Amino acid sequence: MSNSVYVGTSLDGYISDRNGGLDWLQSIPNPDNLDFGWAAFMERIDAVVMGRKTFEKVSSFDCDWPYTRPVFVLSNTLTFLPEAYEGKAALISGSLSDVLETLHRQGHRELYIDGGMAVQSFLKEDLIDEMIITTIPILLGGGTPLFGELPDHSAFEHVRTDVFLNAMVQTHYRRKK
Ligand SMILES: NC(=O)c1ccc[n+]([C@@H]2O[C@H](COP(=O)([O-])OP(=O)(O)OC[C@H]3O[C@@H](n4cnc5c(N)ncnc54)[C@H](OP(=O)(O)O)[C@@H]3O)[C@@H](O)[C@H]2O)c1
Repeated sequence: MSNSVYVGTSLDGYISDRNGGLDWLQSIPNPDNLDFGWAAFMERIDAVVMGRKTFEKVSSFDCDWPYTRPVFVLSNTLTFLPEAYEGKAALISGSLSDVLETLHRQGHRELYIDGGMAVQSFLKEDLIDEMIITTIPILLGGGTPLFGELPDHSAFEHVRTDVFLNAMVQTHYRRKK
């Protein structure tokens, strides 16, 4: 069982800009449509667990649903998701240990955790096993931070680093325990 993060961040550690914008993630020309390991990552994941705000952002995109795995939306305020997401996404709430127990019982063992607050809440309880972080060489100056305060240090070991398009640095870390 593992909980993984796969995320794009600015040099100053933001995952969206002050207006919630994500255009900067695609600011490096990508003529060959590299996917930066996304498809291979999704292949080894059983389910996605995302914060409600990330769900709202993804569902506002004018494109096909990007996930090939079941998506669970963390929310303590929503009571239902639009019908269009039936069979694609479901709400989940409660403590993270209850959330994980429910998902593991359903056979979802390899989880992709997405969204700033969602990732931070998992990190606070030392529940993140690996992070694949792609850094875009831009300073956003503000926005949604990837990381926040933690109760203690949390060490990770380096697994590998790839440079894409001579601009984006993708580093894979594994929790050192
Ligand atoms: N650059 C990237 O790769 C990337 C990736 C993902 C997201 N993003 C961007 O990040 C932004 C969203 O991130 P965010 O940090 O604002 O919010 P988020 O983590 O997506 O969502 C936070 C919401 O999730 C719900 N939640 C329920 N239980 C939670 C728990 N245990 N821990 C955390 N959240 C819980 C809460 O919703 P309720 O208030 O309904 O209870 C909370 O307000 C969007 O702009 C999105 O586009 C960027």
